[in-house]
This record gives sequence, C-alpha cells and structure tokens, in this order.
Amino acid sequence: MVQNIKLSLKYSTIEEKDIMKYADEVAEIHEELHKKSDDPNEFLGWLNLPKDYDKKEVEKIKKAAKKIQSDSEILLVIGIGGSYLGARAVIEALTNNFYNYLPKEQRKTPQILYVGNNLNPEYVNDLINLIGNRDLSINVISKSGTTTEPAIAFRIFRELLENKYGLKEAQKRIYVTTDSKKGALKQIAETENYTTFVIPDNIGGRYSVLTAVGLLPIATAGINIDELLEGAKFAQGKYLDRNLKYNDCYKYAVMRNILYKQYKNIEILVSYEPKLHYFIEWWKQLFAESEGKEEKGIYPTGAEFTTDLHSLGQYIQEGRRNLFETVLYVQEAMSDITIRQDEDNLDELNYLVGKGLSYVNKKAMQGTIEAHLEGEVPNIVLSIEKLDAYNLGHLIYFFELACAVSGKILGVNPFNQPGVEKYKTNMFRLLGKPEYVEANNKKEDKKQEKKVSKRQPKNKEGTKTKNKKYIIK
Ligand code: PA5
Repeated sequence: MVQNIKLSLKYSTIEEKDIMKYADEVAEIHEELHKKSDDPNEFLGWLNLPKDYDKKEVEKIKKAAKKIQSDSEILLVIGIGGSYLGARAVIEALTNNFYNYLPKEQRKTPQILYVGNNLNPEYVNDLINLIGNRDLSINVISKSGTTTEPAIAFRIFRELLENKYGLKEAQKRIYVTTDSKKGALKQIAETENYTTFVIPDNIGGRYSVLTAVGLLPIATAGINIDELLEGAKFAQGKYLDRNLKYNDCYKYAVMRNILYKQYKNIEILVSYEPKLHYFIEWWKQLFAESEGKEEKGIYPTGAEFTTDLHSLGQYIQEGRRNLFETVLYVQEAMSDITIRQDEDNLDELNYLVGKGLSYVNKKAMQGTIEAHLEGEVPNIVLSIEKLDAYNLGHLIYFFELACAVSGKILGVNPFNQPGVEKYKTNMFRLLGKPEYVEANNKKEDKKQEKKVSKRQPKNKEGTKTKNKKYIIK
C-alpha cells in the first residue's frame, strides 16, 4: 500500500542547492516543532495525531456514522472554516462527482449537506426545502462553540429537527463536535444529552480534519477513515527526517519561501480533478490563516484546469509576474473513456481516436506547465498516484506540516488567526451584541477625551492646561 507523493523541481526555476541553503534553519524548526508537540499550549496536537489518535473516539465515530447511515437520508454538517472545509474536501475528493445528486439506491450512504458556513437566508430556505420531509441527522461542529454562523444555523435546524421528530428522537439525531470543556455548544450538548465528540485542545480548526471534526461526516459518506488515517500515519513517519535533502515536505515549504523572496507572492494550487475543488478550498484556508499576518505571507489561491484556462489562464500567462503555481497531479485516473472514430470527422477529432480522456487531460497539463513556465510562472509539481483515502491522508499531513514549517520560515505564528476577529467585532457591534456595544461606547468615550485634551491650550511651560479649553481671555 506504500505510495508516495513526488515533488518535482523541474519547472520550478529553483535548484536543489538553493533549497539546501535552508537546511540548518529547517532542522531547527523541525526540532522546535517536535520538542513542543506534547505541550498542550502549542497547538501541535496534529503533528503526532496519525499515530497517537484516540482509538476509542474513532470507534465511537464509526458507530455513530453507521447509525446515521441507517436512520438518515441526509447528514447536515453545520460548521465554518476549519470546522467544515476538511470534511467537505475529503468527501468530495473521494466520492462520485455527483454524489449528492445520485438516486438514493445508487448512493447507498446519506447525502451530505452543509450549512452554517454563510449567513445567506436564501441558502437556508433553499436547504429547508431541499430537505423536505426526508430523514435527517445533524453534526454541529465548532471548537469555540460560539461562532455566529454555525450557532445561528444550529438554532434553526435544531428547531426543525425537534418539530419533526419531537424532543427525544431529535436528541438522538444531533451529534456535537466541540471542545471537551468550554463553550456554549458544550453546555447545550450537556444539557440536552447529545452524543458528543471532542476536538483536542491542542489542535486548531484548520489542522483538525483528521479528528472527529472531519472523520464523522467523512465516515458517514462511506469513506474508509482507517485508510485515511493510515495514509497520514505513513506521512508522519516519512516526514520525520529533519534532513532537508530527504524531506520533500520541507522542500516544498522552502521552495514557497524562496519564490516569495523573489516577489512571487501569490501561489495558485492547480488541479485537473474537479473533485479536488474543496481540497483546494481547504488548502487555501490552511495557508491563508496560518501565514497571512504581520503584513506578510503568500496569498494562496486556486485554479481548476482546464476550465480556468479559459478565464484565469490569460492572467497567469501574461498578467503581473508575481505568481507561481503548485500543480497537484493525480497520476492514475480512477476511470477512463476512449475517444471513438467518427466517419464524418466534422469536429476534426479523429486524430485522437483510441486515446483516453485521461491522456488528453495529461497532455493539457504538460502543455500548460510548459506555457506558464515560458510566461515566467514557476511550477512546483506534486504528484500522487491516485485519488484514494490513503493518498489523501498522506497529502493532508504533507500540507499541514509544510504549512507549519513554511510559516515558521516566514517568521509568523502559523497557529493563530488574530485577524479573523476584526470583522466579528464590527459585526457584533452593528448587530447590537451588548458587550460589544458597551466596549465600543467606552472606546468612543476615550477617543472623545483624547480629542478634547488635544484641543486644550498650552500654558507658558508648553504643557496642557486642565479644564481651561473654553476660557478665552
Ligand atoms: O482554522 C480555524 O481555527 C478557523 O477557521 C475555525 O475553524 C473557524 O473560525 C471556526 O471556528 P469554530 O470551530 O470555533 O466555530
């Protein structure tokens, strides 16, 4: 089962010797991460998770997934950011392209639908209509237990569930994934006696896909979570080598930083697999929240080829030269379709007769890499053998570790996200959340005081006089 991710430098414009200049720095970062991995305050729980995961919890997840499969046509996953994207990334990558649209008999496992990742009323109303009368379970996921988007969605759909099944049955259909001790969601779960799964204290949202956060929805969709964890475990062992020469994960982290220093401050994760759409979304969140701070960081974005070659492709080829691409190349297609002879050949495609679509896709990729490189867009190519649970588990660990190391090379803390709070503070103030309104009033008062004291006339000594601002002599 041992499969590898291959990193190719060929189209990257970077030479091995330039990567090796970072060998000492990377070895130090490796030491630091591994030394602190058991420290509960360091958010490094994901580092040893594939080997050390809570086996009992995983058994409980499998049991819950079986129950949901047996009594529900739909699993509604409520969460946002790291509490949502990982599950969706894996489910969409490893199930049929049209999984949610398949007839029930063909799909065999529940439809997985998502809510609580936006605040759009039409989305929620459409979802309520889509669910209709069908049997439903809910997995609400929030580490803090207080995030507004999932909290509102949970309030709405919990009520829907209680109205549909009555309190007792609804209780059995709600699965809560949250912190072990704190947060409003934890409190609700305790009061209502919901089945609860724990997000370990030392694992942040975007590093949590291999905990219950991702595993319960993933298992419910019929995906083998043992294989996913096995692939991640293989990666954990493989990237334990602090020697940069033999560690492709660390090399990828270094290559990003080398390109960044060459003013290539936008990285596009490219895939030729439509199923990887949400994997790209997961990757974007992982790197953006980890690295985008202190006015630094590569802006992570994604492109899906060949469709985006007919939109973003123009910019990539000839726009501002501050881009590089990381191509996720899946070597083996899971199925293929052969192009057949057409007598008339009016579409002039007979030169492709006998070729598989996967062959055409591969040639499109080769042609694009060459073209973009010619257009001064370096391409890092990451190849995986095929899109299965084992390889995906490997890839998840690869990117998590690369992200942590890359952030450290950049000189930021890859495990916090202070910037996310700013919009929340404003939103809460505008919505009239009491403590935010009070805090804002205090802030305004202080501002006012400052303005007033600045306007105070100065005395002979040049210091401000107290309370004399309106006395004109
Ligand atoms: O990666 C992160 O930490 C964030 O994206 C969180 O996952 C996201 O904000 C949701 O937070 P919570 O799980 O507390 O609801």
